[in-house]
Amino acid sequence: MPAHTTSLTVRSATEADWPAIGLIAATGFGMWRPDETVQVWRSMMPPDSVVVACDGDEVVGVALFLDLQLTVPGGAVLPMAGVSFVAVAPTHRRRGALTAMFNELHSRMGDYPIAGLEASEAGIYGRFGYGPATVWESVSVERERAQLRAGVPDPGGVRIVRPAEHRAQLEDIDERWRLQTPGGLHTPARLWDEILEDRESLRGGGSALYCLLHGDGFAMYRVHNSDRRKDRAQVTKLAAATPQAYIALWRTLLGLDLMATVDITTHPGALLPYLLTDARLVRTVDVQDGLWLRMLDIPAVLQARTYDADVSVVLDVSDPVLDGGGRFAVEIRGGRASCVATDAPADVHTDLSVLGSLYLGAHRASAFAAAHRLRCDDSTQLRALDAAFATDVPAELGYGF
Ligand SMILES: CC(C)(COP(=O)(O)OP(=O)(O)OC[C@H]1O[C@@H](n2cnc3c(N)ncnc32)[C@H](O)[C@@H]1OP(=O)(O)O)[C@@H](O)C(=O)NCCC(=O)NCCS
Repeated sequence: MPAHTTSLTVRSATEADWPAIGLIAATGFGMWRPDETVQVWRSMMPPDSVVVACDGDEVVGVALFLDLQLTVPGGAVLPMAGVSFVAVAPTHRRRGALTAMFNELHSRMGDYPIAGLEASEAGIYGRFGYGPATVWESVSVERERAQLRAGVPDPGGVRIVRPAEHRAQLEDIDERWRLQTPGGLHTPARLWDEILEDRESLRGGGSALYCLLHGDGFAMYRVHNSDRRKDRAQVTKLAAATPQAYIALWRTLLGLDLMATVDITTHPGALLPYLLTDARLVRTVDVQDGLWLRMLDIPAVLQARTYDADVSVVLDVSDPVLDGGGRFAVEIRGGRASCVATDAPADVHTDLSVLGSLYLGAHRASAFAAAHRLRCDDSTQLRALDAAFATDVPAELGYGF
């Protein structure tokens, strides 16, 4: 029988499957992580959270989720099933392996109210009710010409340290930062071990990690040398729990005299361009969706965050592939929402992926309405939805997974 006519089965992964999973992931992504790093991620996988697709005895696909904790607007934290390691062998693509694994994986998410993932390609996950909810912006700052504006304070208080020697302080700052940032994630101890291990094979040719430490923030970066005039500092993580710490850290980063650029992955609401005399020196190199969200328990998720305006709507949410939609009466008053299932006529029709995109405030309902992906005939209600879902603190994904 030709391979394309055999049928695939989906089952839980066993310990014995991991070498095959490693091969599928390596061929799927074109590179893979060292075994020790995979072990760290495995420590974040709850029981029964790894499924494989098999053709006979052969593993031809994998999908799993991690146990993560997501900060939502207002500071509440939701348990999030963080979908990752999704790959299907190039010999078995477009035969429904991903769909079969996702059906099984989502049936195992139990009490998780929300699921999230990062997408290798933006065309894959919308059908499964995931919508892009944060935006990555990679910028390169022309450090030699960048000047802070007169009037920007000089709070000081930054030291250069070896990160591993200041772990407790870094963990404490990271916790404070993630709890006030929509999209923030708790970093488990094993992941801190891995970050501070700073494996040479994962440095991408850069130096060891350097760390700038302030009482309320830190920036970790490595230097990439090409020829001397083109050295660049790549910031791997900047977490600032106060605006003063952010400014103090950027003053120091802009003082890295021999670096031609300081490169960082940040978000469209970042403060840096506003601090400079010439905002164009913060050159955007790439913009991409970051965290994608799928609501699993729509009332629980909508009730978990705070809101910036009052609105009452009946939402009709479709989810054709995984069947998680429904109709809900949403009443937002004084910053909190109540959300209950209803049969009342709907004011807003949309699909679950759009709701995921609105949730952290990075996208507006009116943009989806203009794109014919959300229908709301009452323009006052639509403006109220825009205002309600907006956030003071821009959403930013805590770390890639
Ligand atoms: C992405 C990937 C997992 C898809 O697996 P697959 O088994 O081929 O997917 P399925 O056959 O279940 O496809 C389901 C649907 O998604 C569509 N689809 C799958 N991959 C897609 C892609 N990359 N872009 C757009 N649509 C895609 C299919 O066309 C199909 O649509 P249909 O239901 O309308 O027919 C696989 O191509 C892969 O491993 N890619 C390399 C690794 C990777 O990118 N992993 C994702 C990491 S986030």
